[in-house]
Amino acid sequence: MKKLTSGSLILALGCGLLSAALAQTAPAAPAAAASAAPATPAPEVTCFESRKGASEVVKKDLSPGLPNVKCSSRTGAVLWWGDPFDGTVPMGDVPLLTKIPAGKAVVKPRTEKLNLLAACGTGCHNGVIPPTLPTTKKPTPIPTMEAMLPDAKNFQHGRGGIWCLDCHHTTQRNKLVDNFGDPVSYDQPQLLCGKCHGDKLRDWRDGIHGKRIGEWASTGKKRWFTCTECHNPHNVQDGMRNRGFIQIAPEAPPQLPHGMIDAKHELRHGVAH
Ligand code: HEC
Ligand code: HEC
Ligand code: HEC
Repeated sequence: MKKLTSGSLILALGCGLLSAALAQTAPAAPAAAASAAPATPAPEVTCFESRKGASEVVKKDLSPGLPNVKCSSRTGAVLWWGDPFDGTVPMGDVPLLTKIPAGKAVVKPRTEKLNLLAACGTGCHNGVIPPTLPTTKKPTPIPTMEAMLPDAKNFQHGRGGIWCLDCHHTTQRNKLVDNFGDPVSYDQPQLLCGKCHGDKLRDWRDGIHGKRIGEWASTGKKRWFTCTECHNPHNVQDGMRNRGFIQIAPEAPPQLPHGMIDAKHELRHGVAH
């Protein structure tokens, strides 16, 4: 999600969101650690797991010599996890996903990444202010929201066919909404996305779409990446490819084993493919 502008900070103040706004404007630390003066502590290094600006993780040691993540110096993306379950919580129920024993499916909560969320249902949409809330799902400009959430200005999902309250709960703003009008946690976006993208939910459940890391055995414990860890729900149809994703520079190929000059042997296969 895009960073807040100073204009939005002023508006946010009006809504009593100062702490949230300040938290979002904090700059991300550079991916490569700069050499600091001896007395100052090493600068914080931040990488992203799956969506830049939305799934940041601060580098730290889990135990002496065991980093939580190793990151690409080229893209800042996480390439390796010291503990795939660090910071995860149980995934919660997903319809038709009943065969996984308790505790074997975990996710990283989204809630703690959403700086505006804490204030949504208290600072602004608290039932008193603003006095008029949209009552329909018809796309309408909402300048106050646009200043706080630049995504809302250039909303790119559903080609004008869907709007805020198709996804956000009408009366509980700190919840999403499922097909029955029931509140859904931001940590379980699959229950929201799946109501319109049933095919993708099925693929995700089957492990054909998305990503899982963790124990190798199929019965082992896994961290599942949730839909919003990869997709920004407000701009999935943005950009040249109409997909919301920006291509990142590919990593350099891995180093060849000692003594090997090139990888031409890989071109010689008995079977054409
Ligand atoms: C397709 C479903 C969908 C629609 C439509 C939608 N949102 Fe969201 N919105 C979400 C989800 C899911 C999240 C949580 C994103 C995440 O986890 O990164 C979110 C997050 C937010 C947040 C919290 C952002 C933060 O960083 O704290 C705000 C505010 C918000 N949406 C406002 C809106 C407004 C205003 C509209 C209408 C212009 C809208 N949304 C339309 C699904 C939607
Ligand atoms: C209320 C229904 C609804 C919900 C909920 C919803 N979407 Fe969509 N989504 C749509 C529609 C409609 C389109 C546009 C499809 C088209 O134009 O072909 C779309 C398009 C997309 C696209 C672009 C793919 C394409 O075919 O253009 C992605 C990616 C996507 N949605 C992901 C998500 C994710 C992730 C969530 C949950 C955070 C979500 N959607 C929730 C209705 C929804
Ligand atoms: C690990 C990252 C990741 C996760 C998790 C993930 N997606 Fe996707 N999704 C992608 C990528 C990458 C694409 C392909 C986009 C492209 O074509 O550029 C995609 C494509 C899509 C599309 C468009 C497909 C099309 O036919 O063009 C939809 C809709 C979608 N995802 C919905 C979901 C839903 C719903 C979930 C959760 C149940 C989910 N995704 C979870 C990465 C992810």
